[in-house]
Amino acid sequence: MKTIFVVLPIMTVLAGVDQLKEPSLKDRTESIFIHTSGDSPTLSMLELVGAMTATGIQYEIVDISPQVVRIRSSATEDLWKMIARRTGHVIGIYRELFPSKLLTGGIERTIVANGEVHFEDIMKIISTCSGYFCEWLASRKKIGLESIRIQGSFREVSGTIIKKAIGKLITANGGNLHLDVPKNLVAVIISRNIYIGEQLALADREGMRKRRNQFRPFSLPITLSPNLSRVLLNMARVEKQHNILDPFCGTGGILLEAAMMGVGVYGSDLDPKMINGTKENFSFFKLDYRNIEVCDVEDAYNLFPKMDAVITDPPYGRSTSTGGEKMEELYRRMFVSIVKILKNGGRCAMILPSMAHLSDLPDELILESAVSHRVHRSLVRHFVSLIKEG
Ligand SMILES: C[S@@+](CC[C@H](N)C(=O)[O-])C[C@H]1O[C@@H](n2cnc3c(N)ncnc32)[C@H](O)[C@@H]1O
Repeated sequence: MKTIFVVLPIMTVLAGVDQLKEPSLKDRTESIFIHTSGDSPTLSMLELVGAMTATGIQYEIVDISPQVVRIRSSATEDLWKMIARRTGHVIGIYRELFPSKLLTGGIERTIVANGEVHFEDIMKIISTCSGYFCEWLASRKKIGLESIRIQGSFREVSGTIIKKAIGKLITANGGNLHLDVPKNLVAVIISRNIYIGEQLALADREGMRKRRNQFRPFSLPITLSPNLSRVLLNMARVEKQHNILDPFCGTGGILLEAAMMGVGVYGSDLDPKMINGTKENFSFFKLDYRNIEVCDVEDAYNLFPKMDAVITDPPYGRSTSTGGEKMEELYRRMFVSIVKILKNGGRCAMILPSMAHLSDLPDELILESAVSHRVHRSLVRHFVSLIKEG
């Protein structure tokens, strides 16, 4: 009881101070929020962290809301563009223009007091924290505006009235609203917090859509989607100068995305039909396929140089063939082979049908992260990243 009495007043005082003080300009220019896909929040987070680490971005996570991660970082706009280009789950990256803590706090207090939030309330809230936004406006005259609501959050406030209030602020400061100008786009994202920011980078969702299975000359139901292939590549923190191998390449889903990222690509599969199909897909996308060979997973280390990463999606024992081999035996041989293939410090990112397969992990492979992702009612995939000690 005593502890509650001591802690609560201190927290209340701190919260009060925070609400009154707008963070300095310098602090706020470093506040970035990242909008991610809603498929699997943990997987998106793991991918983002891997991509930022591989790109050399220093960051500190400030808060996480559904489909939005807010971080502090001094990374350049070019680096954020690289993150949006290389990831499968990032949708857009924004620099905060209004401090989300002040905005969200103001809106929450209005809801508690009035039950709903009107245009005048929003106007009052945003004008108390519009200093940095007005400075930003001074050098940008044509502004586009959009709002995105995630998972029905903050139903009491409409995105349209927030946009209307920002629009009023823009025109009052000599700016012009251009609803279809993609440059200088201001986005309002309503999640567990409310975020307003300038768009720095947008993922090429359309480019990725065009590489989906149905648009390739060779694809099968086993083909891994471009997005999930990217997630694996980022979990392994793959860099441009790296060489990667997929020893169960199938139709080439992972290899195609790795090649698009400019990584050195090597692939193999037991089934010659898969290797021919992968080559056909590479030709279709005008990519080089010199290092793609037919071989058993156990022999791959004989064919290729030592790798920085192994990125793979081995048979699940469902629709994909193991050539009659028991799954346990195939996975045991696979892990032994991965140890031989990887350089010391190299990583392996893969999808497992069951976490039980990790019980056979050789001593050299250390589990770094694992996320279970339900694909549909009867299918759970486990995304795992391992690092070879050395
Ligand atoms: C799940 S599929 C890979 C799908 C792939 N990610 C894609 O996008 O098409 C697994 C692949 O492992 C191959 N395979 C099965 N046993 C193998 C073995 N012992 N060595 C190498 N490849 C094997 C199968 O031929 C199949 O293409």
